[in-house]
Amino acid sequence: MKHQERIALANGALGGESHAVKNERYRLRYHLMPAVGWMNDPNGLIYFKGKYHVFYQHYPFAPKQGPMYWGHAVSADLVNWEHLPVALAPSEPYDYVTDGIGGGCWSGSAVDDNGTLTLIYTGHVDGRKPEEVQCLATSADGIVFEKAAFNPVIEGPPEEGGFGFRDPKVWRRDGRWHMVVGYGKDGNGKALYYRSDDLRVWTFIGAAAEGDGAMGNMWECPDLFPLGGEDRHVLIVSPMNMGDTKTLYLSGSFDYESGKLDVRYRERLDYGFDFYAPQTLLDERGRRILIGWMNIWGSDMPEREDGWMGAMTLPRELRLTEDGLLVMEPVEELQALRGKHISFGAHVVAEGVGLSHLGIHGDALELIMAFDAGASSARAFGVRVRCSADGGEYTEIRYDREKGNVSVDRDRSGANVKGVAEMELWPDADGIVMLRLFVDRTSVELFAGNRAMSNRIYPRPDSLGVEWFAEGGDAVLRSLDAWEMRQEGPE
Ligand code: FRU
Repeated sequence: MKHQERIALANGALGGESHAVKNERYRLRYHLMPAVGWMNDPNGLIYFKGKYHVFYQHYPFAPKQGPMYWGHAVSADLVNWEHLPVALAPSEPYDYVTDGIGGGCWSGSAVDDNGTLTLIYTGHVDGRKPEEVQCLATSADGIVFEKAAFNPVIEGPPEEGGFGFRDPKVWRRDGRWHMVVGYGKDGNGKALYYRSDDLRVWTFIGAAAEGDGAMGNMWECPDLFPLGGEDRHVLIVSPMNMGDTKTLYLSGSFDYESGKLDVRYRERLDYGFDFYAPQTLLDERGRRILIGWMNIWGSDMPEREDGWMGAMTLPRELRLTEDGLLVMEPVEELQALRGKHISFGAHVVAEGVGLSHLGIHGDALELIMAFDAGASSARAFGVRVRCSADGGEYTEIRYDREKGNVSVDRDRSGANVKGVAEMELWPDADGIVMLRLFVDRTSVELFAGNRAMSNRIYPRPDSLGVEWFAEGGDAVLRSLDAWEMRQEGPE
């Protein structure tokens, strides 16, 4: 079957009644999700002709990983998303599989090639040799994509004996095209660097960076980009088999001649359970914006029962500190989602009594909380969201003063998923602990002290309470701003 026929089948399935979301209970209100079916990695992030495009790994026919397609959504404001027809379907010997997982049009990126929206993706066919090749597809209108007749453009890895060769991220600089591809060899993840003048003929230069023996054995979804000054660059990767660390960033300076990233700093990128395969784009305002997949391989994914699976994180603007720390902050456009606002000055959260009658509740909220650790006697304090009336269900965001960390505890959050995610956090010079929290129906994204944490939760729809707590003493909540988030963006 031809590419466009397969796309027509997929679009038909997406519009079909037999194939609709069965229950809305876990649908997010202000995050990007598939209309139905399966979604994983964000692909082809690009700001193109006035719109933000997010393509994504997609299996339209069922909420499971199948032969992968590219879904496609656009937005003018990073808040309201519109689904467009499926962009890529597996159809050719280099990207086609008839059954099972292990194949299709795998992850990749998008570029503006002199006005033509061009996708560079991995064709994966399980068991083929080589299993993974890099391919091009172009579109005249930004909606319908044709695969290049001369595909694949890179016919396999540069050497024998590697593990994986996928997820090309391409960018333009100084009149040339540059690409990083995810790879692994001898137990080390690597980001391979290629160069091209025309997107078609690629020259392998070397590994831009690689692991040190303890950074996973294959690096999926590499993204290398300049940030915060000429040669300063950041490489983001999703290492396979690095324990709890699912994403990493390495910052330093990149030398385009040698193709080497001189790494000065590295850290985990997001400390939550549900964050993977993030990708970035550069917009016309010069902002570097990141979106990640807000799920993780191997997790329970309760929304599958309802005929869909997967969501993207909120778009985050990136910034690099002098020390090379990569900071993610929700893009300012998200303020358009703010509805009813409740604001308070100082409150004491009494030990064992807590605070729960501030008129704030719901499943779509933004909370900005300034705790005064210096003025608090409590050992730990924080907030519980999505609390049930009987007290049995809640998700706890807890600041521990002795440990100097903040955690999101999902052990009583609701269905299926469990666990406590933690990240380092110290009060600022004034003794203040600032927590910024976005709650959507099945997600909690926390931004605090230059770090972030993304988690999915699956509470009952009627668990809507919010309460503040203090342990081992009282806590002073210096200020609180809460917004109910609107289901839709600006009117
Ligand atoms: C990351 C990943 C990529 C691959 C894609 C397949 O989540 O495994 O490496 O291209 O998903 O859907």
